[in-house]
Amino acid sequence: MTILKAKEITKQYHIGNRDITVLDNVTLEVAQGEFLVVKGESGSGKSTLLTILSGLDRPDRGRISIEGRDITDLDEDAIAPLRNSTFGFVFQSFHLVPSLSALENVMFPAELKGDKEARTKALALLDRVGLAHRVASFPHQLSGGEKQRCAICRALINDPRIIFADEPTGNLDSVNGEAILALLLELQRERGTTMILVTHSPEIAGSADRVITLKDGRIVTGADHG
Ligand SMILES: Nc1ncnc2c1ncn2[C@@H]1O[C@H](COP(=O)(O)OP(=O)(O)O)[C@@H](O)[C@H]1O
Ligand SMILES: [Mg+2]
Repeated sequence: MTILKAKEITKQYHIGNRDITVLDNVTLEVAQGEFLVVKGESGSGKSTLLTILSGLDRPDRGRISIEGRDITDLDEDAIAPLRNSTFGFVFQSFHLVPSLSALENVMFPAELKGDKEARTKALALLDRVGLAHRVASFPHQLSGGEKQRCAICRALINDPRIIFADEPTGNLDSVNGEAILALLLELQRERGTTMILVTHSPEIAGSADRVITLKDGRIVTGADHG
């Protein structure tokens, strides 16, 4: 079953009097439960693709649908709850709120939708990733790897159907980075979540169900299943 469908997506930026085509007629279908890796050189359009697939930004042309629902023209009020409960995001720079503890950071998306179990779920997730002893710590007291574990818990707390992870190990050393990727993959498999991960790691690409490569805003390999 297809969970996400992107059809003929084009995204351009207008800089001065120049048009830069960042995504060029990208068509992609992602299956429910699939683990998709996105590769490509810096500047090839990977982050732009993720922001458009997840409704953080809009394409100039093309359509996006999630679980059969076209989200391309939804306004911010309609898309915000969808992002909060259907998608989980993990970014290179963690994006934790500095004034909140690890526990509060993780609880936040669940509290936003009024989940009474927010605290219990957050504690269980932090325990699952080995951070039970860090629940009261603030981001500045955590190592890079701990911050990313915390960010992963936050991404998972609402039990998202799709995880978007954009170079989640970009700010970590290679040992911590591989551990984070292994953890993400374990959690994805346990929960059967669909995951779209931008990474340069050949090991992780080797465990992916499919790898697509972007070059100059086009998918050059992996556009089709199988
Ligand atoms: N807000 C923006 N305004 C102008 N150009 C942008 C913007 N965001 C990205 N770009 C350009 O789009 C291209 C692709 O960027 P990006 O999607 O970040 O690539 P990647 O994640 O593969 O490194 C780059 O040339 C970048 O400079
Ligand atoms: Mg990027």
